[in-house]
Amino acid sequence: MKYHSHIDTTVTASFGDALLASLAPDGGLWMPDKIPFFSPDETARLGAMSFADCASELAQHFTDDRFSASDLKDLCRDAYNFDVPMVTLTGENLHPALAPDAEDFVLELFHGPTLAFKDFAARFMGRAASHLMGRTKQRRTILVATSGDTGGAIGDAFLDQDGIQVFILFPKGGVSKVQEQQLTTMGTRHSNVKAISVEGTFDDCQQLVKAAFGNSELTKKHNLMSANSINVGRVIPQSFYYFWTSLQAKGAYPQRPLVYSIPSGNLGNLTGGLIAKKMGAPIERFVIGNNVNDPFVDYLSTAVYEPRPSVPTLSNAMDIGRPNNFPRILSLFNNDYAEIINVCWGASFSDAETERHIRRIHTETGYIMCPHTAVGHLAMEKFAEDISDSFTRITVGTAHPAKFADSVERILHTDIPLPGPLAKAMKKTKRMHVMGPTLADLSDYLAMHA
Ligand SMILES: Cc1ncc(COP(=O)(O)O)c(C=O)c1O
Repeated sequence: MKYHSHIDTTVTASFGDALLASLAPDGGLWMPDKIPFFSPDETARLGAMSFADCASELAQHFTDDRFSASDLKDLCRDAYNFDVPMVTLTGENLHPALAPDAEDFVLELFHGPTLAFKDFAARFMGRAASHLMGRTKQRRTILVATSGDTGGAIGDAFLDQDGIQVFILFPKGGVSKVQEQQLTTMGTRHSNVKAISVEGTFDDCQQLVKAAFGNSELTKKHNLMSANSINVGRVIPQSFYYFWTSLQAKGAYPQRPLVYSIPSGNLGNLTGGLIAKKMGAPIERFVIGNNVNDPFVDYLSTAVYEPRPSVPTLSNAMDIGRPNNFPRILSLFNNDYAEIINVCWGASFSDAETERHIRRIHTETGYIMCPHTAVGHLAMEKFAEDISDSFTRITVGTAHPAKFADSVERILHTDIPLPGPLAKAMKKTKRMHVMGPTLADLSDYLAMHA
């Protein structure tokens, strides 16, 4: 598969080069030249496989000749060694016999090692990058801006990998207590993964990473690579779970169309879903849930896109005023607004509404949602009320509620037990560098540590 820049489509690269370069030379985002389309017979075959094997077959169409079919099978089996369950709010698994009348499911994408959906992309990308680098013997410096989850997943995926240094930039005071603990306790003092607490917002962190990539001297000196969803190596694997889970859901409830609700910030997760739909996944529509940082939901209702400074909310990983992947969405639809709103529908919610929803769902069903998942589920409820409730409804559960224990425990007045890996991280000593949100600060730090 060839990739082209979303700005100048004549600028092209192979998958491996696009992944390692992060951005196209003209500053554009890499887009796949031609998304493969699978016939109903092929999708039936892929849906009957395990998730890991289905992912490896899909990956063959998106990678290049540096990856053989057996490389990808090994890579995906190694990366995806955890469950991808879809459950009702009362805990039944998606299955017509177990939940014959169920319509409302959560796709729990938080059973990987860092308990967030980012593991799906980070574990694929980490393994793909080291497969490529093993051949070149180059050293790389990965910069990743995080609103909480990406940093943990990327750090975990690249920890102790030879030839790679990872610098995780997070907004000081802008991630949950558990996330900060996870980000700042990876490895030892001499670990290849370092956390930087930036005195600013997540948008500042993201701008800093962009500025570093815009500085050719810095990029060359450190051989910089981005692990944010601007990197196409992050976005492609996020299409795999939509593809595979939609086939499971459609197989279980063939008579009903399927709609997914995605709690969104940078729109990387939505981009993955849209790619899956283009591949032939039986998904009718996508619902987009935003918190009050809602330039995309506003765009859907007004056709006007107005990025703006972000404001802090309860669902902090979605505090994004300038979604990185917006140009990718436009490109996937050839800038056709009518087609975009045909497929995407959105709604945004305040923290008060999110808190009320977490409380109500817990009281009515016992299910505990993280604040992001709650925003997605609220959007799905509004879609069912305002548009139609005749769908199988799947809300994407993007993180384990324990990652946001500080807020969820306050809202529910109940203890959320920390799963094993988090409980372990909570006992470790935090290590981080604190710096201002300037390129000069970042470049000084890289000069000393990269
Ligand atoms: C828990 C959680 N939910 C939702 C999102 C938003 O995903 P995206 O930025 O791909 O729209 C993130 C991203 O950081 C996240 O960590």
